[in-house]
Amino acid sequence: MRFMPCAFASFLALRGGQLGLAAATPPRNGSIANSPPEPRLDGKITPKVMIVNMAIQFAPEAQVWYDNMPLNSHGNLLAVNITIPGLSPRYPHVHCREDLQVCQVTTCEGEINAASSAMALLLSPKFNLTKTYFLLAGIAGANPKYSTIGGVALARYTVQVALQYEFDAREMPDNFTTGYVAYGTTQPEEYPKILYGTEVFEVSNALRDAAFNYAVRANLSDNEDSKKYRARYKPEGNIFAKASSGPEVVKCDTVTSDVYYSGTLLSEAFERTTGVWTNGTGRYCMTAQEDNAVLGSLVRMAVYGAVDFSRVVVMRTGSNFDRPPPNVTAYEHLLVLKQNGFEVAIQNLYLAGIEIVNGILKDWGAVFDKGIKPCNYIGDVLGSLGGEPDFGPGSETKGVGFRPPGNSTTRAIV
Ligand SMILES: *[C@@H]1O[C@H](CO)[C@@H](O)[C@H](O)[C@H]1NC(C)=O
Ligand SMILES: *[C@@H]1O[C@H](CO)[C@@H](O)[C@H](O)[C@H]1NC(C)=O
Ligand SMILES: *[C@@H]1O[C@H](CO)[C@@H](O)[C@H](O)[C@H]1NC(C)=O
Ligand SMILES: *[C@@H]1O[C@H](CO)[C@@H](O)[C@H](O)[C@H]1NC(C)=O
Ligand SMILES: *[C@@H]1O[C@H](CO)[C@@H](O)[C@H](O)[C@H]1NC(C)=O
Ligand SMILES: *[C@@H]1O[C@H](CO)[C@@H](O)[C@H](O)[C@H]1NC(C)=O
Ligand SMILES: *[C@@H]1O[C@H](CO)[C@@H](O)[C@H](O)[C@H]1NC(C)=O
Ligand SMILES: *[C@@H]1O[C@H](CO)[C@@H](O)[C@H](O)[C@H]1NC(C)=O
Repeated sequence: MRFMPCAFASFLALRGGQLGLAAATPPRNGSIANSPPEPRLDGKITPKVMIVNMAIQFAPEAQVWYDNMPLNSHGNLLAVNITIPGLSPRYPHVHCREDLQVCQVTTCEGEINAASSAMALLLSPKFNLTKTYFLLAGIAGANPKYSTIGGVALARYTVQVALQYEFDAREMPDNFTTGYVAYGTTQPEEYPKILYGTEVFEVSNALRDAAFNYAVRANLSDNEDSKKYRARYKPEGNIFAKASSGPEVVKCDTVTSDVYYSGTLLSEAFERTTGVWTNGTGRYCMTAQEDNAVLGSLVRMAVYGAVDFSRVVVMRTGSNFDRPPPNVTAYEHLLVLKQNGFEVAIQNLYLAGIEIVNGILKDWGAVFDKGIKPCNYIGDVLGSLGGEPDFGPGSETKGVGFRPPGNSTTRAIV
């Protein structure tokens, strides 16, 4: 998640919706652990959709779903709270609708929190997530070339761009375009020669297309304040045309970095990183702090058959721009001026996201139960799930994928 330091606005007010907190349903008798609700499969909860939010103070990325789903007859995510050991102590529950078809978790922000929480959820014996669709839904910094504040992006690639050597730019060689140099290489913009395995993830393009077709049904929210900041990008004409026009749903990729970088030079450097690491296919339009972390956990558990990596949607909405408009310094852009994108980003996270959730539920029997076969490579740069990556040096597993050592059922690990 990337938040606007100055803007914590009235994100609860959705256009056309009512204000206020959703009424909690009466508590169930006993804890969920003692009396798991129906329907059950092997005694486990089998949600069709798991919404994965990150957080920021007061978890607005989650709250917008809690508040608006009941108002729009889409169910109450706070109907069932399930304690999962290992989640963030700030957000210790997975929350589910009464029918347990849709659940939500808040990972807490940053790579460490996101990976830890995701892994705790995926290892939980309370769930069977083999058929669950994961909707990563967080706010982000938008690349003004491809999106805008309030804009919604659906990714194919996520790239962990800051997983590199870094020189302070004041100490780098004169011929370097950036202080970032990939591991095992000696100058910028080369393919990393040492791979950790989490550099790049690719999710199903076919599922992304389906999610896109649902998301575009949303009437996205906008407001005068965000229009004002967008208008500052207008003088750059065609380059930033997307920045200065209204929010829309676009298909482009996300990058992950714990360092909340900002400014033209770093943003352009990481555009090039994205290009090189995805062998020219990826186009970075949103920057945030969690996607590679959550996808890293999902790939690990997909190796064990505990999740299906072809059922992952990565959605980000722009709450701010990654670089300043013309004639504004990087410093002023990040820390002085108000970009006013937070409210529309939170609103559109829900508005686009609920269309995807409802689309999956509505078309479950016809499409999503059996799943959409990916047409592209899915997985990581190592080829962990089998197949030949369309980026990077080639599968480390000769296209076969890693197999669980020894016993091959999820039961072995719970
Ligand atoms: C679930 O937890 C939320 C707070 O996170 C609370 O508002 C809600 O009432 C709880 N639901 C039940 C059924 O206890
Ligand atoms: C909860 O317990 C009360 C008192 O034992 C009982 O009357 C009620 O039916 C129970 N509700 C549910 C949902 O089990
Ligand atoms: C999980 O659910 C699938 C069907 O969706 C089933 O085949 C599998 O046995 C279940 N696994 C566990 C560990 O419950
Ligand atoms: C850039 O500078 C470094 C360090 O001085 C040097 O080793 C390298 O060959 C130079 N690269 C190019 C492309 O000139
Ligand atoms: C969007 O607005 C149009 C026109 O008002 C309406 O017909 C449509 O149902 C709205 N879509 C959603 C998803 O609310
Ligand atoms: C930026 O500032 C320069 C110098 O003050 C001015 O000439 C130029 O028109 C400005 N550009 C924009 C887009 O405001
Ligand atoms: C990706 O590019 C690197 C060089 O940058 C190259 O070594 C590698 O073979 C390419 N991979 C694919 C799948 O094209
Ligand atoms: C694990 O594998 C061993 C030998 O392959 C087998 O005897 C055992 O039953 C398996 N355990 C489980 C839980 O599947």
